[in-house]
Amino acid sequence: MRKNVMNPDAQARHELTRTVLDRLEATPDPRLREVMSSLVRHLHAFAVDVGLREEEWLAGIVFLTETGRTCTPTRQEFILLSDTLGLSSLVDDLGHPATDGATESTILGPFYVPGAPFRESGASIAAAGLDGEPLLVTGEVATTAGRPIAGAVVDVWQTAPNGLYDVQDDGQPEFHLRGRFRTDDAGRYDFRTVRPVSYPIPADGPVGRLLAATGRHPWRAAHIHLIVSAPGHHTLTTTIFDAEDPYIDSDAVFGVKRSRRHVFRRSPDGGLHLEEHIRLRPETPDSTT
Ligand code: BEZ
Ligand code: FE
Repeated sequence: MRKNVMNPDAQARHELTRTVLDRLEATPDPRLREVMSSLVRHLHAFAVDVGLREEEWLAGIVFLTETGRTCTPTRQEFILLSDTLGLSSLVDDLGHPATDGATESTILGPFYVPGAPFRESGASIAAAGLDGEPLLVTGEVATTAGRPIAGAVVDVWQTAPNGLYDVQDDGQPEFHLRGRFRTDDAGRYDFRTVRPVSYPIPADGPVGRLLAATGRHPWRAAHIHLIVSAPGHHTLTTTIFDAEDPYIDSDAVFGVKRSRRHVFRRSPDGGLHLEEHIRLRPETPDSTT
């Protein structure tokens, strides 16, 4: 019988990994020890797997350095990198498993601005005369047990038909296409807007170059973001995606969950209508009753 003997180079590499892992055993915080040890194991295995060359290792360092240099107080290129590698969606999924009938969460994205104005039920978040297909969004916020939640806050934001958020576009007023709505006694909310459009994520930096080098496009499927909160319930960050968008199956940041695809229906007045039911997970099982 042949013995499974490692060649001497592989043996040395294995020992190097082992030595690093042994050194990490001294980490006082057990979670940090677990995370760092796993990171080292996977990083070393990755380098061995691809036979990482010195110039490739250096190109990676240069890329990460540029990613850091591209960050400003209003631009987070590292999060964009995480988004385009699917890591942000994976972490979101790990933190919010879809198990108990609650509406599925999705990633927040970089364009959320807290403090949007509260608007009357039925108000429009779009400026008067904005070019775009009118869309009426109506819906209900309820517990996972189906009990309507009065006074829940539905905080929404989206791009204009030019594909830009207000914070990216001097031509839009502050808090344009943003607003907070409170549900009524029956847990209902409604607002008017325009049909969202697909738009490219910021692609003029290192992440954009990596997308191009790997043959990928930078487009997000058309969507409206929502953060829904109510006392006694877990706050939900989610997105309504237009199921008919051409990028629905190839969203650049892997943010589209099947349950979050919606078909906008044509209403008799010719406009589009979306009815959206949100189910919030109670903080304690008792609050479902
Ligand atoms: C967004 O949907 O706003 C977004 C998410 C990830 C990266 C860029 C934009
Ligand atoms: Fe977005």
